[in-house]
Amino acid sequence: MLARVGIDAIGVAVPRRYLDLGDLAIARGVAPEKYIYGLGVREMAIADPGEDTVSLAAAAARRALAAADLDPARLGMLVVGTETGVDHSKPVASFVHGLLGLPRAMRVFDTQHACYGGTAGLMAAVEWIASGAAGDRSALVICSDIARYGIDTAGEPTQGAGAIAMVVGWEPALVALDVGVSGAASTHVHDFWRPLGLREAQVDGHYSVQCYLDAVAMAYRGWKAAAIERGLVADRGLISQQLARICYHVPFCKMARKAHLHVRRCDLEDAALLWDVALEETRGAASFREQVDPSLELCARIGNIYTGSLYLGLAGLLDSQASELGGARIGLFSYGSGCTSEFFSGVVAAKASARIAAAMIPELLLARERITIDEYHQIMGLPASAPLAEQPPPGGFRFIGVSDHRRQYIAAR
Ligand code: HMG
Repeated sequence: MLARVGIDAIGVAVPRRYLDLGDLAIARGVAPEKYIYGLGVREMAIADPGEDTVSLAAAAARRALAAADLDPARLGMLVVGTETGVDHSKPVASFVHGLLGLPRAMRVFDTQHACYGGTAGLMAAVEWIASGAAGDRSALVICSDIARYGIDTAGEPTQGAGAIAMVVGWEPALVALDVGVSGAASTHVHDFWRPLGLREAQVDGHYSVQCYLDAVAMAYRGWKAAAIERGLVADRGLISQQLARICYHVPFCKMARKAHLHVRRCDLEDAALLWDVALEETRGAASFREQVDPSLELCARIGNIYTGSLYLGLAGLLDSQASELGGARIGLFSYGSGCTSEFFSGVVAAKASARIAAAMIPELLLARERITIDEYHQIMGLPASAPLAEQPPPGGFRFIGVSDHRRQYIAAR
């Protein structure tokens, strides 16, 4: 019998501005179809320095706690997964802890391994609760990042920014995770990195895609063996088809499609089924449309948010389809360059539809403002210490500068 521990509520925070990828393509002299169909990205969130990793994390956390209607006194752990923190020593979690006035008697820390950092935090929280060590306390896990590549680089159309906060506890209202049923895959590779002091990530782009595919194959096979052993799936045919939906880490939407076709290929090879390229093209496309595409809408409109990308996909999936997924098992794949990864699964709760509505995701998207390419260049040129003079959005926070060695934030009333 699996422990019923998992994600009880989600809160989302995104920057107030976005760039249309068609506008970026024209400015770079690239066919818009390359970004829109070739990469699968339509818009990307652009954060100004006032919308730093801390302010996005705190806003998402405030919304998640409100959605769960949880008394913060019941929290025993706050973890922030991030690869774009604001200090080499003081964690983002510590700032969030202070901004939200959370209880002192709790664990507060950051976790880092590129985009896997949020999953590291989620697993620490889930296993802490399932072990019984947490008693009746819950955890708050936040994934918050600002993805920046250089102007006019191949990575530029795959930027983004945002935070996802998750309340984790017993009898979750969104997704009960299959605790202990997962597959991990790690290799020491140089596919993506960001030397100390640089705001822009460096990447060996095509190699990073291959590293991701190698990792998903191994992690998926590890999960599959564990899921068969525990009787969660039947040992026949294409096992991945027994998952109602699969959410992947989404650096750009086309990557999720490549990953899904690769997972199906693993299934075909493992079951020694005939690999008919032409047939699989049709069947694979249909399976992608049904099992993966419903999780990609938010990712296509916000971009890569690193640690939060997988959970942005999950939030988008639940927001659009939770009412038809109650009781269904879904797969989740987290990838962090460098690299480490994990394939795991969970069951969507019957009340997920009502709970995700509390995240008010459509309203957050509607409140955004489209910016021109000149405004984009101006924001990207601002130093990290020079936020625009603006008020925070409703429910939000803003970094306003450093005074007396301390980063200063204001909260919306
Ligand atoms: P590129 O080399 O400029 O693009 O950058 P390309 O030439 O490979 O083209 C991309 C796709 O567009 C191709 O499709 C083209 O055929 C198609 P595919 O063959 O891949 O199916 N295309 C067109 N389609 C329609 N109409 C057209 C057209 N022209 C071309 N006219 C690259 C691509 C991914 C390398 C680049 O965007 C990049 O470096 N991105 C950043 C790295 C990245 O996201 N890697 C993903 C895996 S690693 C990961 O996920 C971890 C990460 O999140 C970091 C972390 O863990 O912290 C990044």
